[in-house]
Amino acid sequence: MSAVRVLVGAQWGDEGKGKITDLLALESDLVVRFQGGGNAGHTVFKGDVPLKLHNIPSGILHRGTLCALGNGMVIDPGALLKEKKMLEENGVDTSGLRISGLAHLILPTHRLLDRALEGQRAIGTTGNGIGPAYTDKSARLGLRLLDFKHPEVFKEKLSKLLDYHNALLTKVFGLPPVDVEEIAETLLVQGSQLLPHLEDVSLLIDRFLAQGKSILFEGAQGALLDLDFGTYPFVTSSSTLAGGACSGAGIAPSRLGEVIGVCKAYSTRVGEGPFPTELLDERGIFLREKGREYGTTTGRPRRCGWLDLVALRYAVRLDGIDSLAITKLDVLDSLSEIPFAVAYRLKGEILGDFPVDPLELAQVEPVYETMPGWECDTSGARSFEELPRAARAYLDRISKILGVSISLVSIGPKREETFFVAAGVPVV
Ligand code: GDP
Ligand code: IMO
Ligand code: MG
Repeated sequence: MSAVRVLVGAQWGDEGKGKITDLLALESDLVVRFQGGGNAGHTVFKGDVPLKLHNIPSGILHRGTLCALGNGMVIDPGALLKEKKMLEENGVDTSGLRISGLAHLILPTHRLLDRALEGQRAIGTTGNGIGPAYTDKSARLGLRLLDFKHPEVFKEKLSKLLDYHNALLTKVFGLPPVDVEEIAETLLVQGSQLLPHLEDVSLLIDRFLAQGKSILFEGAQGALLDLDFGTYPFVTSSSTLAGGACSGAGIAPSRLGEVIGVCKAYSTRVGEGPFPTELLDERGIFLREKGREYGTTTGRPRRCGWLDLVALRYAVRLDGIDSLAITKLDVLDSLSEIPFAVAYRLKGEILGDFPVDPLELAQVEPVYETMPGWECDTSGARSFEELPRAARAYLDRISKILGVSISLVSIGPKREETFFVAAGVPVV
């Protein structure tokens, strides 16, 4: 029987998905990204060297594991080639890279439009052209990687789209137009370098399933940044939930297996939007500095706060999370007590469920429960039993409140600073 697992971010992104994917990829034949693009920043370690991946799945460090970019992604060919080169310069074999021809292209004009739109309504995007590229996909104007196979048709489609983008840039935003010929030339050169990697990813998945091989789907961003269920409009433009793997990679829902939600032992968010447990005082600064909470893609400081079990319960439900991988537990090591939100208060009323109305969400006050900290170093722990009692009690409480088991714990950025938690382990 093949193992089909979906790994997703259960918060606002940057939960440590890259690190956990890298670990689980050891036992996977194929790792597939199914949404997003260069907005993602997933950090993995090759020995002592941190590598930042934006488009290529975090399984790429394992020779023999195929890594596919699914149809649900939006891809900037120049950025992808740069990432591939960076990996090769670090001694990583990229011959296992596969790209769906159905994935849409991010054009230089998508980046310009993304930044121009930010000037009008600040969402705090990563500026990578994600929203405009998905907009063109939905409007059926977009170009796909398979268009590179037919240069003449490609040029024709591109020139029509760029004429439209130029009208937007000049007439709506008062910016200079781009040079269509120059962009076409650059893209066709980049396209010719990517063509050898194109593959029917859905068919590849199907063949692997038939052969009983193991497949891991690697989500980008997190549940609360989902286009439909996140804190709209402060979201990304794709379906970040586990269900997105079906439409974003071409696998039927009935074939998906276990869903693993990755979640920090506290919360962070980068960009604008409501964040109920955000700490605007020195405690937030402490978490940012101790957790090195600066964006992998943009370098922006991440907003930090306590763990929010109301938001997490929402993610567990929407993603159908079977177990959680808890990361960055070590960041809490020195605290004498650890608060976490178990409910919200809205105009005197207690809410156990995450409100879908953003205006309500912006007004809620978290109701906290507090547990004693462990006040010692956990980074050397290599099994659940080696964690201090108070740390086990914290994890046990999270698991009990959410009704979900914890399958993995991470206590440092390196691959070896992680351990699996056997089912049924007595917690305290
Ligand atoms: P992703 O986008 O979900 O893959 O997460 P990022 O890579 O953007 O951010 C997670 C950051 O935390 C990276 O710098 C990781 O190296 C680091 N990290 C991951 N797990 C741990 C952990 O358990 N402890 C500590 N201290 N850092 C971690
Ligand atoms: P990973 O995969 C954290 C946020 C941006 C912004 C919003 C929209 O590393 O967890 P976009 O550029 O997607 O249009 O920006 O989404 N965002 C992320 N935040 N981690 C990410 O990816 C993110 N990708 C996008 O900061 O608020
Ligand atoms: Mg990240």
